[in-house]
Amino acid sequence: MVGAVDKHLAVIGFMGAGKSKLGRELARLTHRPFVDTDQEIEKRHGPIGELFERGEPEFRRIEEQVVAEALAGPTAVIALGGGAVLSEATRKRLRRTWITVDVDTAWSRVRDSGRPLARDREQFGRLFEERSDVYDLLAQGTGEDAESLLLESLHVIFSSEIACDAAVVADERVAQLHELPVVGGVTLTTHLVPAGEGAKTLAVVERLWSEVEIDRDGWIVGFGGGSTTDVAGFTAATYLRGVHWVAVPTTLVGMVDAAIGGKTGVNTEQGKNLAGAFHFPWEIRIDPRFLATLPDEERRAGMAEVVKTGLLAGKPLWEFPEDEMIRAAAAFKCAVVLSDPYERDGRRTILNLGHTFAHALEAGSGYELRHGDAVALGLLAALRLSGRPTDPVEDVLAPQPVRVDRDRTWDALLRDKKGAFNIVLLGDDGGFVTELPEADVRRALDELIAD
Ligand SMILES: NC(=O)c1ccc[n+]([C@@H]2O[C@H](COP(=O)([O-])OP(=O)(O)OC[C@H]3O[C@@H](n4cnc5c(N)ncnc54)[C@H](O)[C@@H]3O)[C@@H](O)[C@H]2O)c1
Ligand SMILES: [Zn+2]
Repeated sequence: MVGAVDKHLAVIGFMGAGKSKLGRELARLTHRPFVDTDQEIEKRHGPIGELFERGEPEFRRIEEQVVAEALAGPTAVIALGGGAVLSEATRKRLRRTWITVDVDTAWSRVRDSGRPLARDREQFGRLFEERSDVYDLLAQGTGEDAESLLLESLHVIFSSEIACDAAVVADERVAQLHELPVVGGVTLTTHLVPAGEGAKTLAVVERLWSEVEIDRDGWIVGFGGGSTTDVAGFTAATYLRGVHWVAVPTTLVGMVDAAIGGKTGVNTEQGKNLAGAFHFPWEIRIDPRFLATLPDEERRAGMAEVVKTGLLAGKPLWEFPEDEMIRAAAAFKCAVVLSDPYERDGRRTILNLGHTFAHALEAGSGYELRHGDAVALGLLAALRLSGRPTDPVEDVLAPQPVRVDRDRTWDALLRDKKGAFNIVLLGDDGGFVTELPEADVRRALDELIAD
């Protein structure tokens, strides 16, 4: 498994690094249980200061036990005490994430805290040096805030440079416009696929199966928009029963959504994305400079997903400068994916905000209507049904009612829903799924359609 999918997210680091606060924030965002091992120890044995008075070995023994219990429990976010990683047994049990902070910040945060190991600046500094090496060895990611840790935990990296030999599956248009930067000495073999959605066919996958020449330790790189990364990822999932792959998205949709989260696949005659697999990319390498050549309508499609994400995250991401907007939107997608990697418990479904209506409108228009424009309309319907202001959608995306056949569109929605009107709505705490009366759904859909 890649990154923190199916694993605990353990936050380790020096005292004062802000592990508890950060851990709590990560747990909230990923909908995982939160365990603060220091707190757990105090709950059972009283103040840590007093435990320490009885001798550090005794404290460490208790700590090791509490950490072991947390690690044996359901997938969680676990904040470990600064010294917990000194235990060899604990180190063996850990394969996680850490946060880092420089010694002066850490000191200023803990100097007056009365912590047993933070009473003397010099001793504190020495301890910091000693432990840094241990943290360095264990860490699989570093960061000082939830956003960076979420990105790290699914290996989302802001650089496009490829560092090992690979078979590159590239969108033919993108390959004409951009070169994939490589670290010196690396050899890439390029396999072009049709631009955009046309790449998502089994015929293309079959061709790639026979063209690609890598062994089981080889790498596939998907270089293009969501269509390309979907087909490259599916090829990687199936080639020799699965090889590693890296996604290098070149569209806004790809950077904030499609390349992240392990869903790969192709379309079949029966419909979109009907054959596929979960196969998480080893890395997602994002370089917003690729967006310079993106056509306006593709940027608009991306903004529709950004607005969707911002609404769910409760932040006006659409107002952020581009780089920050992409980082924040990608981090939110990581959080949702970590909460429900295989879309089993319904949490990941919130990413479908507005999409029930969008898919119906797309089908009702005979797929003339672009996905992004359909999502903009769908978001309008979702906000109206949620009783929330629609201005972010109207101001940023300015959706216009479309001329599509009402009955055909409604039929498409019915087919999609298979009886139950479970719709993603927006509440004070973000997105949630709820069942709505058929008449309300029909009315909301009708309002999106022009006469
Ligand atoms: N796997 C997932 O979780 C997931 C999520 C969302 C969407 N998707 C899929 O993604 C696909 C849509 O992807 P998309 O919106 O990224 O577009 P796309 O990959 O279909 O590309 C759209 C167009 O933009 C061009 N293009 C791409 N990058 C460019 C660049 N930098 N400069 C100029 N032109 C460029 C392409 O050649 C193509 O013509 C759909 O098939 C959808 O199902 C998958
Ligand atoms: Zn979408």
